[in-house]
Amino acid sequence: MTKQEKIQKQKKYAKRQTILLTVIGIVLAALIIAIAVVLLTAGSKSISQDTLDTMPAVTKENTADSTEALQADAVEGTEVDEIDFKSAGMKLNVGETASPEIKGGKLSDLENWNSNDSSVVTVDDKGQLTGVKAGTAKITASVKNGYKLLKLTVDVVEEESSTVKEDNTEIEDAVEVGTTSKGFKIYEKDGCTYIYGILMASKTYTLPEDYAPGWEPEAREAFERLSDDAAKEGLDIYASSTFRSYEDQDRIYNNYVSRDGQEAADTYSSRPGHSDHQTGLALDVNTIDDAFGYTAESDWLAEHAHEYGYIIRYPEGKADITGYQYEPWHIRYIGVEKATEVYESGLSLEEFLGVDSKYSDD
Ligand code: DAL
Ligand code: ZN
Repeated sequence: MTKQEKIQKQKKYAKRQTILLTVIGIVLAALIIAIAVVLLTAGSKSISQDTLDTMPAVTKENTADSTEALQADAVEGTEVDEIDFKSAGMKLNVGETASPEIKGGKLSDLENWNSNDSSVVTVDDKGQLTGVKAGTAKITASVKNGYKLLKLTVDVVEEESSTVKEDNTEIEDAVEVGTTSKGFKIYEKDGCTYIYGILMASKTYTLPEDYAPGWEPEAREAFERLSDDAAKEGLDIYASSTFRSYEDQDRIYNNYVSRDGQEAADTYSSRPGHSDHQTGLALDVNTIDDAFGYTAESDWLAEHAHEYGYIIRYPEGKADITGYQYEPWHIRYIGVEKATEVYESGLSLEEFLGVDSKYSDD
């Protein structure tokens, strides 16, 4: 081989080498790009339509729980969405401990338990709720491995006593005829009904036609002290209508029926034999008019009547249970101790005792 030929051969070899290296380089680059694309795709897993369909709706309430929550749910799958409290509310007695029922999961799937009012309901880190005092509290918990926030409203009530409450000391020879839903025994004597020692007169409980004690001295004396004390504060509280006999009530009620019709009259006037006025323990004060409810006298009466043994017999918003519309002017004597109990309960007399007020023919 001549020198010329040798040089030619070396050049050819070098050219092949260059082509080969270029091809290898291109293949390697393509491989690296492919691997990078695969890795990036896996890392940013797209949200499918199915997943979107199972994501919680963004409502006003959970908007604050943020987009982060929605993304987390999407990544975690659908189980997180299915966990919830079985119902939106639950009831506890004071002193009672219970856990809310869960659907789509277990209590242990939840964490970060919180009560917005620990004076009403406390909650531990396992979701054990305890009623502390009567009221309402909002409980929240979040689902583990997700950010879904669950909400529950808990109503705490005073436990209705299962012990029968007896108070028959003042009514000798009364006959026991039943028990109220609050556990008070119901007694009857001479056609009158007594519950917790209180003489009853309502749509449910009647008085005999000849029951006519007049204005009972104990109630009258208590009212006079009430009126005197109110006067010391510059308020004028006077008696307008006290004891009313069966006949008085018959006349009054039938006048109202003639004027407004029976259905309307029954919302504010008692049928004869059903009036609280016939007990001799009730009275109307000042002007028997809704306007009385906006006076300083009415405010004082609502706050202090119990100190003299009186209750507002037909409180506002309780017509369905007392049977009568709000009468801020009608007070009823039941003694200081019991009036204070009723006042502090915030209940009407019917609710406090666990009875209703309904005519038997209604
Ligand atoms: N206004 C009350 C309800 C009565 O008539 O006795
Ligand atoms: Zn009255």
